[in-house]
Formats: sequence, C-alpha cells, structure tokens
Amino acid sequence: MTGEAGLDLEKHQQEVLEQVAQAPDTGALEQLRIQVLGRKSALNRELSRVGQLPPEQRREVGRVANAVKGAIEAAIAERQAELRAGGAGSLDIAEAIDLTFPATRPRRGHPHPVSLVMREMEEIFRGLGYDIARGPEIETDYYAFEALNIPVGHPARDGFDTFFIATDDIEAGPEGEGKVVLRPHTSPMQVRYMESHPPPIRVVIPGKTYRRDNDATHVPVFHQLEGLLVDEGVTVADLRGTLEYFARAMFGDDRRIRLRPDYFPFTEPSLEVHVSCFQCDGAGCSLCRFSGWIEILGSGMVHPNVLRFGGIDPDRYTGFAFGMGIDRIAMLKYGVEDLRSMLDPDLRFVRQF
Ligand code: DAH
Repeated sequence: MTGEAGLDLEKHQQEVLEQVAQAPDTGALEQLRIQVLGRKSALNRELSRVGQLPPEQRREVGRVANAVKGAIEAAIAERQAELRAGGAGSLDIAEAIDLTFPATRPRRGHPHPVSLVMREMEEIFRGLGYDIARGPEIETDYYAFEALNIPVGHPARDGFDTFFIATDDIEAGPEGEGKVVLRPHTSPMQVRYMESHPPPIRVVIPGKTYRRDNDATHVPVFHQLEGLLVDEGVTVADLRGTLEYFARAMFGDDRRIRLRPDYFPFTEPSLEVHVSCFQCDGAGCSLCRFSGWIEILGSGMVHPNVLRFGGIDPDRYTGFAFGMGIDRIAMLKYGVEDLRSMLDPDLRFVRQF
C-alpha cells in the first residue's frame, strides 16, 4: 500500500526485516533500529504525513504504517534476544551459562508448630512405654460426657462449649442424650480404650478437638493430648513423677512442677499441673504473668465410675489421667501471641519454626 507519493510500506517492511535478520551483533542491530525507527527514519516521516492525507486515505494508511512499525519492532526484539543468547556465535553458550552457579532449590514443606510439639510429646511418652492411639473426632454424647461421669443435666457440660451435630436419624433424648457431637476434648478415648484393652494400660491420645469459641486464646479447632494409665496400685505419686518427667523433657531439665486442686467430673481427686516458668525460671516475667508458674494441664486419679464405664473393676485397679492443649503449649514454647495464627494459611508463619 502506498500513500500518495509516499513510501511503499510493504516493500519497506520486507527490506527492513531482511536487514534485521542479518544484523551481525547487538551493536549493529541498535544502529539499524535508530535508522529504521528513529525520528529521522522513512517510516517515521510516513507516519507524520498520515495526518495530512485526505480523510478517506488517512485511516487505511495509518493502520498499515502502524502495523509495519509493530512488525519491525517485534523482529528487532526477537533478533536482540537471539544475539544475546549467543545464537549468532557472539557469545559461546558455555560462557553465557555459569554451570558453577548454585541452583535454586525448590521449597520443601515444613511441619506446623502444632505438629512439631505433638510429635515431641508423642516421643516423650513413647520413651516411657506408652502406646499412641487415635480416636473419632465425631463422637457420641455417651463417650464425650456420660461415660466420663458427666450425666445429662450436669453443670460441667456447659464448660465444654460443644458443637452438636444435627442428625435426623438419631433419636435424641430431651436433654441431648444420644446426640452426636464434635468431640470437645480427647477424654472420650479413655473409655473407648478401656473397653478394648485390659489393664495394664499406658496410652496417649493426640488429636483434634472442637469448641464453640473464637478469640486470641480460644479457637474452634485445636489439639489435645490425652494420657491414661491404669494398673494395680497406681497412686498420685505415679502421676506426679510421670508429669514431672514430662515437664522436664518438654521444657528443660531444671523445671519443677506443682499440683493444685482442681475439679473434673472424671477424676477424683483432680489436679491442675503447673510448671516453673522456663523463661524466667520462676523469677516472674510476662510469659508467666509474673507468677513464676505456667499451667500446662489438667489431671487426676481416674474416677471409679469412669473405670466402671470402661469395664474395669475399681476395687482392683486405679489409674491416673491427664489432658493438655497442644496448641497452647506450642504458643508458650514458640512465643506465639495469638492462638488464631495457628490456623493462618500464610506459609511465612509456619516457616519460622
Ligand atoms: N478433658 C479436660 C478438658 O478438656 C482435660 C482433662 C482434665 C483431661 C483432667 C484429663 C484429666 O484426662 O484427667 O478440659
């Protein structure tokens, strides 16, 4: 196409493309670029002339001129990449790629801090001869409460902020008996385990637990580790020795523990276990809220009713049990301030540990 007495655009394009393809190196290509696309180039002159053409020609000539310009630019860019990659022998391929340069490693996965702490706990108890068991997260009201000595109407039920699952095919009693729940603690596994294992029993049960809670220290999905030991002649001294060993293995050899009376329907007596602060060693700091002690778990001697629900004779056997929040201990150990970060899908959080 030729504008009136103008440049033959198609012919021009063809000529320039040939020159581009033959440019021997990037310097020559740059010179050519200025010559064919620069302000004083024939193509530029043609483009600035478009505005003066009669309206019926202006559109078409403008379109073709711009297309030619685009084709030349693309060809130059391509030739430039080719020359840079050493395609024309300007740079040997061996020189262009440094084979000794360290490779970028693909990112590997990283265990979540809760998984790290859970595994550490499992290892400590495995070392003491405990088995590790897992149980259903969807539980019946029977194992979650009744068999743990928390009958329907018992006020301790309120404290568990339980998620109840709507089930049409299960006939629930007027106060929830027979219902299905997301387990609000790992303790239901105590009775399940006793049902299928005769004493002596030594077991820990790690797993997910659920409660209707959501703030900086409570999330709806969290993790607990349950412990149960049943044998003849088990006393509070065994509980104390075991949990002191655990606290030292977990938080350092210098740790001490203290027991405080507490209340759980499934243990009698019930004990709250505190560990001496592993940050200030008891002197008082913000981690232990200046008390020198940090509460790490609930425990106690298994209630005779619970042994009976598990099919174990309480006149012959005694036992202790304990339960602790794994996320909470991970928070303490790693200095995480908001429990909700544990549910954050941002991998930068996980990679810190
Ligand atoms: N299940 C209790 C809770 O979630 C924790 C607990 C306390 C577990 C005492 C036990 C125990 O086994 O003996 O709050």
